[in-house]
Amino acid sequence: MSTDHNARVVDQFSQQAEGYRQLTSSLPSDRSAALRAQIGAGPEDRLLELCCGPGSLALDFAPTVRHVTGLDLTAAMLEQARIHQAQRGVDNVEWVLGDACEMPFDDGQFSIVLCSAAFHHLVDPARVFGQMVRVCSGGGRIVVRDVTPSPDKSERYDATEKLRDPSHTHALSVDELRALGSQWPLDEISLQTTPTTHLGFDAILATSFPQQCSREDLHALLRADALSGEDRLGFKAAVIDGELKVSYPMSTAIWTKRQGGMTKEA
Ligand SMILES: C[S@@+](CC[C@H](N)C(=O)[O-])C[C@H]1O[C@@H](n2cnc3c(N)ncnc32)[C@H](O)[C@@H]1O
Repeated sequence: MSTDHNARVVDQFSQQAEGYRQLTSSLPSDRSAALRAQIGAGPEDRLLELCCGPGSLALDFAPTVRHVTGLDLTAAMLEQARIHQAQRGVDNVEWVLGDACEMPFDDGQFSIVLCSAAFHHLVDPARVFGQMVRVCSGGGRIVVRDVTPSPDKSERYDATEKLRDPSHTHALSVDELRALGSQWPLDEISLQTTPTTHLGFDAILATSFPQQCSREDLHALLRADALSGEDRLGFKAAVIDGELKVSYPMSTAIWTKRQGGMTKEA
């Protein structure tokens, strides 16, 4: 656990909380319908979403499963999740304030353990992944969805994201994501990479709180990359109908935990 880094996360996401909820709740709802089908979520499942933010994904799953727990480090995000929950009218959900590095849950407590759009904020993703394996039951599913820039763009991608959001650490490549699961008694069900649709960069900047440069500087940086046509930064930046847009390289990895399996494999 890094106290300094956790403070950066809480600082950033306390500022982002309301705007982030509005942004994610306006995304198409089938973003989780497809995921629910892929995971095979059903009425007996107990689901944990770590780093749940304003809870949009957790709440999408709630009507399908028996119980949902959302864990996040940022109290302001969980406040937004409660507002969101009241709007959705679901009651099989609880929100827990805590650190994904030290999850306050029993071994095997959940049959689906999910983390979306957050591994790139972690100082020690391997440790958090180990915690996910610990709290998942045998036969359960572990899901990590996150941005996965190509290795040749990784350094520039991370540097750009750190400028936009100082709580960014490192976005794993597809190979690094896959390697997370390789040391545990898990079987990979699928690993799919599907870039997001192009999103307006100014809307993203509106919910960003850069410290080392201005929003205008970031807009200029991405615009120059778009106009170069080279995608040096890894966001597929493009000016479409006069608007600067970016696309995030998202991957979703799903593993199942072997029955009785917990020990790390050599
Ligand atoms: C980009 S948001 C993603 C929210 C949500 N999972 C989604 O897909 O919309 C990242 C979230 O991770 C949380 N977070 C970052 N590091 C964390 C940690 N170590 N433990 C728990 N939550 C953390 C932040 O507070 C923030 O709410």
